[in-house]
Amino acid sequence: MRVLILGGSSEASRLAARLAGEPAFAPILSLAGRTRNPAPPPIPYRIGGFGGPDGLAAYLRQERIDCLVDATHPFAERISANAEAAAAKTGTPLVVFTRPPWTPSSGDDWTECADAAGAAQAIGAEPRRVFLTVGRLQLPAFETAPQHEYLIRAIDPPRPAPNLPRRRLILARGPFGVQDEVQLMQAERIEIVVTKNSGGDATRAKLDAARALGVPVILIRRPPPSHGVAFHELDAIMDFLREVHHRASP
Ligand SMILES: NC(=O)c1ccc[n+]([C@@H]2O[C@H](COP(=O)([O-])OP(=O)(O)OC[C@H]3O[C@@H](n4cnc5c(N)ncnc54)[C@H](OP(=O)(O)O)[C@@H]3O)[C@@H](O)[C@H]2O)c1
Repeated sequence: MRVLILGGSSEASRLAARLAGEPAFAPILSLAGRTRNPAPPPIPYRIGGFGGPDGLAAYLRQERIDCLVDATHPFAERISANAEAAAAKTGTPLVVFTRPPWTPSSGDDWTECADAAGAAQAIGAEPRRVFLTVGRLQLPAFETAPQHEYLIRAIDPPRPAPNLPRRRLILARGPFGVQDEVQLMQAERIEIVVTKNSGGDATRAKLDAARALGVPVILIRRPPPSHGVAFHELDAIMDFLREVHHRASP
């Protein structure tokens, strides 16, 4: 069964690794091409956009894809909308594989915002020392709040650099440990953390560190989820894919 995985997330990588060992499936992983030097996947892959929903629909037909898996990052809104449209247009079964959002526990001091612009305003008028981990595409929204001192963490350098007079950049890729996050936030005298509700284990340590240090957090809420079947667990999506395969070739 030919499965196209829209990737760029740890979920997609885990699914690719699992499908690599399943002879009933012929998976292809699709990457947007944002990350420089991505680790080579264990299954066939392609890199770059399809050219909108119509381009993706054409690819699904041309490659005779039996099932489309949207395993993109929860904040990658456009490709998920394209996946829905292309699946509907071609009648391809679509399934979403994503991580659950983070939820607060006792001792957390979280403020949720709809978007990066709202998060920038929620930091407040008084200059503060901000630990900003929202991904490089969201950084321009913080130019409306230039009074703060920003410690920005990103995987690749933002191009162009955001127009923020008091900023420093750390380049790092998770997973991060709680103890390291506590040390970083103490050394930098961080007063507030601003991040997106990405979910997952690789980057949640900053929230645990913030709770331990009594530091408030501003969280950008996720965009609304895609319609259709969604799974958070690898075993559950594997069962679903086997079921689709079984229905297609009883
Ligand atoms: N947004 C985040 O916070 C975030 C964080 C970590 C990783 N990522 C990953 O980085 C990639 C880009 O994220 P984004 O937020 O820029 O996406 P986006 O805004 O939803 O997508 C923009 C365009 O990039 C292309 N694209 C995106 N994902 C693709 C994929 N897996 N394969 C082929 N083309 C893809 C599509 O181009 P066409 O219309 O030409 O097909 C899409 O219209 C995604 O794969 C996502 O999983 C995103």
